Amino acid sequence: MNWPEHGGQPATMKKLFQLEDEVEIVDFSANLNPLGPPDWLKGELEKQWENMMRYPDPHYSNSSAALARIEAIEEGEILLTNGGAEAIFLAAKYFEGKKAGIVHPAFSEYNRACDHYHLNVTDITLSAEDDFRLPMNTLLEVLPDLDVLFLCRPNNPTGTVVPKAEVKMLLEQGLNTHTYLVVDEAFVDFAPSESLVTLWKEYPNLILLRSLTKMYTIPGIRLGYMMAGKAVVEELKTAQIPWSVNALADAVAPLLLDDTDFVQRTFDWLDEQAKVLRAFYREHDFYMSPTRVNFYLLQDKRNTEQTEELFTFLFQHGILVRHTYNFKGLDGKFLRLAIRTEEEHERLCVVLRKWRERV
Ligand SMILES: Cc1ncc(COP(=O)(O)O)c(C=O)c1O
Repeated sequence: MNWPEHGGQPATMKKLFQLEDEVEIVDFSANLNPLGPPDWLKGELEKQWENMMRYPDPHYSNSSAALARIEAIEEGEILLTNGGAEAIFLAAKYFEGKKAGIVHPAFSEYNRACDHYHLNVTDITLSAEDDFRLPMNTLLEVLPDLDVLFLCRPNNPTGTVVPKAEVKMLLEQGLNTHTYLVVDEAFVDFAPSESLVTLWKEYPNLILLRSLTKMYTIPGIRLGYMMAGKAVVEELKTAQIPWSVNALADAVAPLLLDDTDFVQRTFDWLDEQAKVLRAFYREHDFYMSPTRVNFYLLQDKRNTEQTEELFTFLFQHGILVRHTYNFKGLDGKFLRLAIRTEEEHERLCVVLRKWRERV
């Protein structure tokens, strides 16, 4: 099967599975906030029409100032990017030709970015049996040989968050061995107390990557940023494509960041729905990864070898989930699902009950 690289592609999946175009699909395969985008965004984008006819501010001063205020760091330590994806590629560019470690299972773009910039990559793979804990001894051993370690925290696809104390140990060791940690916090908006931004002043070898596309459901607008030392930001600014972030994204970023009501509603929904799912999966004997964010890994504990059959069964019943074939260490043995609305979960649970009756 020619599995697509990323989630959120119902039309492609329908073709692959030869499902009729008319079949209604609920998409659990992309990790986006189902409450978003905020209601006011559409009107605001219309108001920004005039901005479409101008080049964006090359320094993105308003957005950078808003981000610096919120993160309590300096503007020169922020680089606005075309989604978290560009931040990943820029981070890899900074270490062009050097040695990187990537902790897996993780977002596949770290490998692509490192390959693109000819980094020599060592893969470090966590195991499900160990609840995706960091193998600290192995990491501390390999760190001196690396220029940079890529870590996804909160982790896509598991939703888990490795303890801050362990990251601190890696940063500490990294200071001695001139090793940077690039931590992708694309999903930390869903668990903000976990952000490493509080460690950031202490550790100049820490580079943080963020995305606004998940929390605010704006993957089409493309908006992300990097937090790094001024020298890193300066160097990467010169490497960045001119006007990489579009004017509309730049205009709405400060407004999105100020919408704390929307974020609070999101937390309330997430708490509630995560509880519902945990109870359902416990009762029906499914594994749900100990997630802290808006997605999780799923496996049928009674049929651990039938994950592909479960994927197909769900899809044939109008539920699209994410396969895990291109996540190192998972190799398709789990499914990844976004946490979605109450109604969508009711539909999911009906189908999973049918699956349970069948096998
Ligand atoms: C862990 C992680 N980082 C970064 C990204 C890139 O997000 P975007 O470029 O939409 O901001 C994604 C997208 O799925 C992701 O899962």
